[in-house]
Amino acid sequence: MSILQTLILLSFLLSASHAAVQDFCVADLSAPEGPAGYSCKKVSAVTVNDFVFSGLGVAGNTSGLIKAAVTTAFANQFPGLNGLGISLVHLDMAPGGVIPLHTHPGGSEVIFVIQGSISAGFISSSANTVYLKTLNKGDSMIFPQGLLHFQLNAGKVPALAFVSFSSPSPGLQILDFALFANNFPSELVEATTFLDDAQCFSDLLFCSEYGAKCLPFLSNFE
Ligand SMILES: *[C@@H]1O[C@H](CO)[C@@H](O)[C@H](O)[C@H]1NC(C)=O
Repeated sequence: MSILQTLILLSFLLSASHAAVQDFCVADLSAPEGPAGYSCKKVSAVTVNDFVFSGLGVAGNTSGLIKAAVTTAFANQFPGLNGLGISLVHLDMAPGGVIPLHTHPGGSEVIFVIQGSISAGFISSSANTVYLKTLNKGDSMIFPQGLLHFQLNAGKVPALAFVSFSSPSPGLQILDFALFANNFPSELVEATTFLDDAQCFSDLLFCSEYGAKCLPFLSNFE
């Protein structure tokens, strides 16, 4: 290889490695979010406050239907997370509180129980095997990406947990809403769920009455 060829090759390698170096990509929330997250705010506009979030120390309001509250630190609320594949949630559950069967299409989840006890489980995708455990203070459990899972406070005292995700925007789909609070004609819901009219009708009533307004945190997952 001539000296010229070597120099040209070297300059390509140098420019490629230079292009790959990016310390962070703080979300520019004024532009829409794409599959890879938000586009980056100009580095000159980034401050330390983009990397600090103070909203997770406050207990949520657990007086709603599900007796549980989810306080989120996703890219929408915590722009410094954008592009880093992580996020965090503060979960409060009153006795009897439940996060109904749901999935996060965008990320795996790990829960860490700080106080009380939480019964939790997930269902594998093709075998439908249930992995179920009552978690006590200090316990952690994993919910793999995309699998249906739930959390339930079956204890007598309020439960507190922190949850982290392998995505800055893990997304949320609640099974009951997907089945019964959608815009499908009820004949189609019945045909695709094998439930009869009475079962569908009562579930639809339930969901239209309580729906998203009972889960005010839903919009944070959008
Ligand atoms: C808690 O939520 C309930 C509705 O679920 C509402 O009536 C009440 O005002 C809320 N309390 C606070 C302190 O926000």
